[in-house]
Amino acid sequence: MSARAVTATVTLVGFVGILVLPTAAEAAQQHDRPVVVAHRGGSGYAPENTLQAIDKADKLGFDWVENDVQRTKDGRLVVIHDTHLARTTNVEQVFPGRAPYNVRDFTAAEIAKLDAGRWKGAKFTGARIPTLTQYLDRVDHNHQKLLMEIKAPELYPGIEKDVLRLLGKEDWLNRDHVRNRLVIQSFSAASVRTVHERRPDITTGFLGTPAKGDLPRYARFADLINPSNGTISAGYVAAVHAFRGPHGKRLKLFTWTVNDAATARRVAGLGVDGIISNVPDVVRKAVGGGE
Ligand code: G3P
Ligand code: CA
Repeated sequence: MSARAVTATVTLVGFVGILVLPTAAEAAQQHDRPVVVAHRGGSGYAPENTLQAIDKADKLGFDWVENDVQRTKDGRLVVIHDTHLARTTNVEQVFPGRAPYNVRDFTAAEIAKLDAGRWKGAKFTGARIPTLTQYLDRVDHNHQKLLMEIKAPELYPGIEKDVLRLLGKEDWLNRDHVRNRLVIQSFSAASVRTVHERRPDITTGFLGTPAKGDLPRYARFADLINPSNGTISAGYVAAVHAFRGPHGKRLKLFTWTVNDAATARRVAGLGVDGIISNVPDVVRKAVGGGE
């Protein structure tokens, strides 16, 4: 058999997907060490989703950082994981009586007043919830790469358009960023599809573990399938790898959130392409792993 891929068309309940046997190069690549991504920045060591967290990832030698993007009451994009502000900030002291402290109920100016570091340790006092603009600037400054999650898009109608507009304004949709330094992901398939339809050149990821039979449908708009580590097996990873995504490349799989050496070794053994971790140095020590 030649080294070129053998491609077959398969029909699966209502749609057509491209099933791919890998080239020799791709088969070898499948056993490369996984990319290690600093989850919410180096969030095991610094307050999650802050500039300090991406600086920590940089100091540890990690290029890829993951974050979570939401929208304020006045339409600004900010970087925070929870849809409320209470767990990671002093909002209850600064704005008493504003429960349930939803991100979407506060303006950007109000959010800028909050301390987002003290909860993680006294030395982080004064850390702020970054705007997405501030965050992108720091990622650029550090020469890092961004796995950006659109968090809870059902709460923020049209957020995909807002994110893409801001990325364009900040010069993050140029050839280098789009090809090498940006992936946009979400737990919402609709959101990922919207990003893909608006900017087909951007690499996208779906967060979750779709049934194997549904993978061809996801492969129309997602380049990566990113499941929780407890949900995957070697068979599942192989099933993902059997399809090509919207850019004609083999689908990849980055799994989360792996914070111990044993789990890192397990998922690396399954053939995952990436491991997302609060403690990326622990993962790198366990399995090697790049970037
Ligand atoms: O990137 C994967 C991971 O971030 C998904 O879960 O809840 O930490 O946003 P969560
Ligand atoms: Ca996330």
